[in-house]
Amino acid sequence: MPTMEEHFALIRGLDRAPTGDEVVAELAAFHAAHPGVTEASVGAMRDDAGLTSYARLASRVPDGARTVLEVGCGNGPLLAELLARRPAFERVTGVDACAAEVARARARFDDPRLCLHTADMRALPSEIAPVDAIVSHHALYIVRPIELALGSLARALKPGGTLTMVHWSPEATEHRPFAEMITAFGALTARDVPHFRGWGDPRMFSRDAMTALFEACGFGAAPALSIDCHAVHATEPVDDAVERLIRFFYSAHLQRPETRAALRETWRAMLSREATAEGVVRHTFPYAVITVTRGS
Ligand SMILES: C[S@@+](CC[C@H](N)C(=O)[O-])C[C@H]1O[C@@H](n2cnc3c(N)ncnc32)[C@H](O)[C@@H]1O
Repeated sequence: MPTMEEHFALIRGLDRAPTGDEVVAELAAFHAAHPGVTEASVGAMRDDAGLTSYARLASRVPDGARTVLEVGCGNGPLLAELLARRPAFERVTGVDACAAEVARARARFDDPRLCLHTADMRALPSEIAPVDAIVSHHALYIVRPIELALGSLARALKPGGTLTMVHWSPEATEHRPFAEMITAFGALTARDVPHFRGWGDPRMFSRDAMTALFEACGFGAAPALSIDCHAVHATEPVDDAVERLIRFFYSAHLQRPETRAALRETWRAMLSREATAEGVVRHTFPYAVITVTRGS
C-alpha cells in the first residue's frame, strides 16, 4: 500500500502540467489504494432532507429512461442507488478507469441489470451505447481533455437523452467557512506544485464555458443547462471533519508532509470558529446537480 507521500509522485516530479493520460493513470493508482474513498468521505454526508448526493442524483434521472450509464462509477455507490430506487431501469452500466474500484463494484451487486467495464470515459467502448441517460458523481470536473470525454458521452447518448452530474457548486464561494478553506487549500498546494493547475478543465467551472463545450462536443446548438445547488452536511469533531475533507480532495496528497500539516492546522482553526464548546462542528459541502439534454 503506497504511503500518502508516494501518491502522485509523478505529478510532483514534473516541471510542467500533467497530461490527461498521466492524470488518469495517477487517479487509478490512487483509487486502487483507497477503496471507496469518495463514498466514505463526502459521499456519506447528507442534506437537510437526509439524502446523500448519490440519492439526489439517482432521483433526477428522467422517468422515461430505461438504460443508464454512469461514468467514473468508482466502487459503485451511485449504481447502488440507481438499482435500488429505480426498478424501471432495464440496464445500468458503470464505467471507471480504475480496475480495482470496478472489481469492488462487481463484488457488491448481484443484479442482472448491471454491466461493468474498466474503461476510459474519454473513449467509451461502442457496445455501451446507446443509452437514455448518463450520470456522473464528482468525476467530470477532473477529466482532461474534457472535449474527448464530452464527445464520447454525446455519442453514447440517444438524441433527447440526458447527462446529469453531481458537480462543483457555482455557489461554493457563498458557503463559509468552506470557501475560505478551499482558498487556503489552493494557495498551499500551489506553493508545493506550482506547475499543477488543477485536475480538470477550468471551463467546467463556468456556466457559459460549459454550455459552449457541450455545444462543441455534440450536445446540439445552445444546449440549456439546468443547475440546481445543494449542500450536504456532517456533524462531527473538528479533527474528524478535517480528515474527511483531506480524504476527499486528491490535492492534499500532492502536498509535502509539512504543507499538509499546515493545511490541517489552517482548516482546524477555520472549523473551530464554528464548533461547539465540545469541539463538534456541523460543516457543509456544497454541490450542484447539472443536467444537459442532447439535442436531436
Ligand atoms: C472522485 S472519484 C468519484 C467516484 C464515484 N463516482 C463516487 O462518487 O463515489 C472519481 C472517479 O472517476 C474515475 N475516473 C477519473 N478519470 C476517469 C476517466 N477518464 N475515465 C473513467 N473513469 C475516470 C476515477 O477512477 C474515480 O473512480
